[in-house]
Amino acid sequence: MARAICISGIECCGVETMVLTKLFRVDALYPDPSILDVVCRDVLSGKIIVFPTETVYGLGASIYRPEAIRRIFIAKNRPIDNPLIIHISRREHLYETAVDIPDAVWRLIELVWPGPLTLVLKGGSAVPPEATAGLPTVAIRMPAHPVAEKLIDCTGPLAAPSANISGRPSPTTSHHILTDMFGRTDIIIDAGDTIFGIESTIVDFSIKPPRLLRPGAMPIERITEILGIEVTVTDVSRGYVEAEEALAPGMKYRHYAPSTPLIVVETRKPEDVLKVALSLRRERKRIAVITCRENVEIYQGIVDKIITVGSRENLFEVAKNLFTTLRELDRLGVDIAVAESFPEKGIGLAIMNRLRKASTKIIL
Ligand code: TXA
Ligand code: MG
Repeated sequence: MARAICISGIECCGVETMVLTKLFRVDALYPDPSILDVVCRDVLSGKIIVFPTETVYGLGASIYRPEAIRRIFIAKNRPIDNPLIIHISRREHLYETAVDIPDAVWRLIELVWPGPLTLVLKGGSAVPPEATAGLPTVAIRMPAHPVAEKLIDCTGPLAAPSANISGRPSPTTSHHILTDMFGRTDIIIDAGDTIFGIESTIVDFSIKPPRLLRPGAMPIERITEILGIEVTVTDVSRGYVEAEEALAPGMKYRHYAPSTPLIVVETRKPEDVLKVALSLRRERKRIAVITCRENVEIYQGIVDKIITVGSRENLFEVAKNLFTTLRELDRLGVDIAVAESFPEKGIGLAIMNRLRKASTKIIL
């Protein structure tokens, strides 16, 4: 069990607890092996750990320690019906974590793993119900981050959701993980900014044809090209449909949401965003606009804050800055924010999914 001591301050599922957190800073490419050795032993003995992946930081526990997996839900304040992704570092880990793996999946992972693609497969015997929320399927991925790879090589498979408090954007920087998880997790490995800054793509291969459950850092176009068959993309995967219709249990919960109301304008013409901003200005609202570098000048002198998430020509840059932008929105002192849209190609599909899920209103 965790060394949970009662100190007033953190409200955690109704219990006031504060966990003593050990913080290690490591080089993202060449992490100190002696640090990894220490934390590996801790994880095997049942500790929970924040660790970097190429997408976002994860909060992990060994799949062989169900009691530690349960603590992840408490630390994040995560509903227990929302299953976790199993992170592996070798293909052999699949033999214990999944069964009936289709040939197409073996071909796919040969080309894209390690990398930001999560597969939903029929669950194997080593994965406890604490990680799958009792589902017969399991989500599995092999992260492409030297720290995650080396850590999991030592610990074996780790069950891990993103290391944010539920409802907040996933953590992509040292600042995010310290803000959300210090005092809630036993260990933090801080390796600086993650690479993509947006979560993995999730595809359900337990059904035919496979279905996109969550767009992410791996473009769906690349997956369909390798498979040679279409992957079903629905309004749910685009981020329009909430609640009961959601396919991945986690998608029914409101996500990424700042307290500041956020309007997403889908038309992609900055003039339309400007019109929305002008009408809000007439209502005497203080307004922030989330835009790309190319359009900054259009809003100057009209809105109170202009937030640039990157260039339209480089959607990877936009993805990387998106969660920091959403986290900082509430600190700008504005009444409302209006966001431009981005092309739904490649990683753009994931950007639009997250923006829609963070929004309070979508203007089509
Ligand atoms: O990039 C990522 O995927 C990050 C890093 C840490 O790996 N992880 C992450 O985990 O985003 P999480 O828990 O925040 O999101 C995983 C999503 C949730 O919406 C969950 O409901 C869904 O995956 N999921 C997990 N197991 C599933 C299953 N068996 N069937 C359908 N959806 C599943
Ligand atoms: Mg998450």
